[in-house]
Amino acid sequence: MTPYAHIVGWGKCVPERALTNDELSEMVDTSDEWILARTGIQERRIVGEEETTLSMSLHAAQQALEVAHLRPNQLDLIVIATVTPDHLFPATSCLLQDALGATRAAAFDLSAGCTGFVYGLGIASHLLIAGVYRTALVIGAETLSRITDWQDRATCVLFGDGAGAVILQAGENEGGILATVLGADGSGGELLHLPAGGSRYPASHRTVAEGMHYIQMRGREVFRFAVRKMPAATQEVLQKAGLSIADVNLLIPHQANQRIIEAATRALDLPPERVYSNLHRYGNTSSASIPLALCEAADEGRIQPGDLMVCVGFGAGLTWGAAAIRWTRPQPVPTPPLRRFLRRLLYLLATTRSRLRKAWRWLNALLTRDPMAKDGRKEQ
Ligand code: COA
Repeated sequence: MTPYAHIVGWGKCVPERALTNDELSEMVDTSDEWILARTGIQERRIVGEEETTLSMSLHAAQQALEVAHLRPNQLDLIVIATVTPDHLFPATSCLLQDALGATRAAAFDLSAGCTGFVYGLGIASHLLIAGVYRTALVIGAETLSRITDWQDRATCVLFGDGAGAVILQAGENEGGILATVLGADGSGGELLHLPAGGSRYPASHRTVAEGMHYIQMRGREVFRFAVRKMPAATQEVLQKAGLSIADVNLLIPHQANQRIIEAATRALDLPPERVYSNLHRYGNTSSASIPLALCEAADEGRIQPGDLMVCVGFGAGLTWGAAAIRWTRPQPVPTPPLRRFLRRLLYLLATTRSRLRKAWRWLNALLTRDPMAKDGRKEQ
């Protein structure tokens, strides 16, 4: 057993394209004033045609590995929390494992709505603390713009795209992920859901015509749930870690709505300067929102070694979760150009390796006799 799981690297990726409230008000019956007053959002990032959850995850992961001074083949585990994987299967984390050249890593995706990243932190840190793995990459990544109904003003003003990644490493020094709490209440599943595309309602003309491949949400009820759960989960995780709200240097809440963040801040009696928010720039990026905020807080120097940080989220499921983290990593120094070049070479090798493996599999299929055909002959 190694008693601690530390965050040793972090990285993020957001698409270049920013969609402002004014642009949205030309698409649906809304206004900058309404969106800002009700949500605090000013703009959100939207993927370009070629970008996906995988492509953003790859950039975020490469940055995180650079900050951690680790190579992809040192990763033991890759977890991507997402409700917008590139495909239902294979898992986006497996595609990332290949793209990174993380040849030793196990990989799986995790679906826990906007709490997904906190779930990922909880699971990965416990696997590290139990001694199963030494190094894990945990990502929250979403391409929500692809499941948003751009004619529904009640939802399209809220969501955006992005990815954030952290690398966890087992260590003997005190700190890192001190405690996590995770919860679920499926009786509220219909408050926030994507009805079709799974086995219940597979894609059909009807599901497309009825808009069942878009996010559907009962906003007010989700709001009430969030305002109740965020402070409760924060208090619970602090209690589990043997700490109190007075010990918290920075709260990183799920970035869904500034009014929800402010209500939680008041309920916890936290000064607003100890609560991080970048919601105005990105909107709600679901499972990417906490790691995106964490990366920016770390890069801005808002978290210093020794500080206590709490990440707290809520989302579809319904789910909720919190993690109490003692930050142990100093600000990274910029990577020297030679090392940057070598890293690029490493990723080029990963692409080449992947192509060669695909070519080998193809060739192998051509040259090897089909075992099914052989069985068939036996039966005759
Ligand atoms: N622009 C202008 N008016 C809008 C609008 C928009 N984009 N969206 C809704 N409205 C209208 C409604 O039609 C309603 O009009 P009515 O009073 O004539 O019926 C009015 O604004 C109030 O709607 P309501 O839904 O009560 O607003 P609200 O204050 O609850 O804010 C949300 C709506 C969605 C911003 C808010 O409920 C929310 O943030 N909920 C939580 C959502 C969330 O976090 N989801 C993700 C969870 S991970």
